[in-house]
Amino acid sequence: MGLFDTVSKLFISGGRFLGLGFARKAQLFTLGGKMGKLLGQSSSGENGVATILVTGGCGFIGSNYVRLVLQQEPNTRVINFDALTYAGNAANLKDCEANPNYRLVVGDIGDRAAVEKVFAEESPNEVVHFAAESHVDRSILDSSPFIRTNVQGTQVMLDVSRVHNIERYVQVSTDEVYGSLGDTGFFTEETPLAPNSPYAASKAASDLLVRSYVHTHRFPAIITRCSNNYGPFQFPEKLIPLFISNLQSDLAVPVYGDGLQVRDWIHVVDHCQGIHAALRKGKVGMVYNLGGLCEKTNMELTKTLIHLLGKPETLIRHVADRPGHDRRYAIDCSLAEKELGWRPTTIFEDGLRETVEWYRENRAWADEIKSGAYRQYYQAQYGHRGM
Ligand code: NAD
Ligand code: TYD
Repeated sequence: MGLFDTVSKLFISGGRFLGLGFARKAQLFTLGGKMGKLLGQSSSGENGVATILVTGGCGFIGSNYVRLVLQQEPNTRVINFDALTYAGNAANLKDCEANPNYRLVVGDIGDRAAVEKVFAEESPNEVVHFAAESHVDRSILDSSPFIRTNVQGTQVMLDVSRVHNIERYVQVSTDEVYGSLGDTGFFTEETPLAPNSPYAASKAASDLLVRSYVHTHRFPAIITRCSNNYGPFQFPEKLIPLFISNLQSDLAVPVYGDGLQVRDWIHVVDHCQGIHAALRKGKVGMVYNLGGLCEKTNMELTKTLIHLLGKPETLIRHVADRPGHDRRYAIDCSLAEKELGWRPTTIFEDGLRETVEWYRENRAWADEIKSGAYRQYYQAQYGHRGM
């Protein structure tokens, strides 16, 4: 199977489900519903053609989103604005380069002049903001880039989007802004923000900035908060691609602490469908939680990966825990089901098997990333943990 066949296949499996939802009273995150406008179809710029400015489209989720939009909407132009940090890889969208509806602009969201330039050149009418520093462990080693990109960069995106009268803006956020759960319960959109890592705090700060622009400037933003993603093109610093990569080389996998922390796993294509549904159908001023309805402990997940790769469990190493490690995330996404007609559709066992297959078939992609700077990071993160 070729490089992108599996990805295309996963896109086909990621359809929409018009579920019944639950009649839970939704809490608007700001405007009491007065400003909310339910869009049943795409907004469009001049000549009926929508131009979406996607930030961070060379990263894991952004690249899957760009591909999905280009495949689903032949009349939508996608401008990908990405700084190509360590996590950004233009090759993630190699298959889209020849598409006349796609353009990559290399630039930093913290650089207002560069952001203004791309807005002036392309006149986007919608923005989907993915660009961020995204790894909790890196935020523990050094939080500065997180404040700069996630907070100040978001401020630039909001200011320039506002000046250009953007019709719709989606802030791609995370369930980590809610903090940690005990053994029971779920995060709803009404759960108070209680971020525990510098990464989560920087995302919560950017969410609050978005909220303030909606409230103060009537800015047409929507926030999505999603659980842990898995799938093709994820940088091998996050649990699933890191463990696959180590196991492929018969290296041990570093499980933090007792490994009984729980994450809710969602396939990246399901997440992208949810973001797009929020862009096109969400009410301005709302937060939508997106999740995979799939809670697993890290140990369960690790053993499943070991099994899928045919390796021995002796490769599991319990190492020093992550400081401040959140114990459990679980998402109630019934609001998104009710208002966006969205719910995740990928069956975890299928999605994970196909993901492992993708990394098997694309070892060169990961090997290229795992050179120089990656090795330094690995040493800083895992050296003192005996890895
Ligand atoms: P990623 O680290 O794989 O990609 C981030 C992308 O942003 C890269 O292409 C990088 O080059 C770009 N970028 C970083 N700083 C930039 C800057 N200053 N200017 C322009 N571009 C910049 O991240 P991801 O996992 O794809 O996450 C994307 C978004 O989704 C983030 O906002 C993240 O908080 C959110 N999110 C991620 C998950 C997850 O499980 N990965 C879950 C929920 C939400
Ligand atoms: P990660 O993929 O970093 O996502 P997040 O911290 O945003 O949830 O980690 C997922 C879980 O796996 C989390 O509980 C931390 C744990 N983990 C390990 O046990 N070892 C590792 O080497 C990594 C990267 C994560």
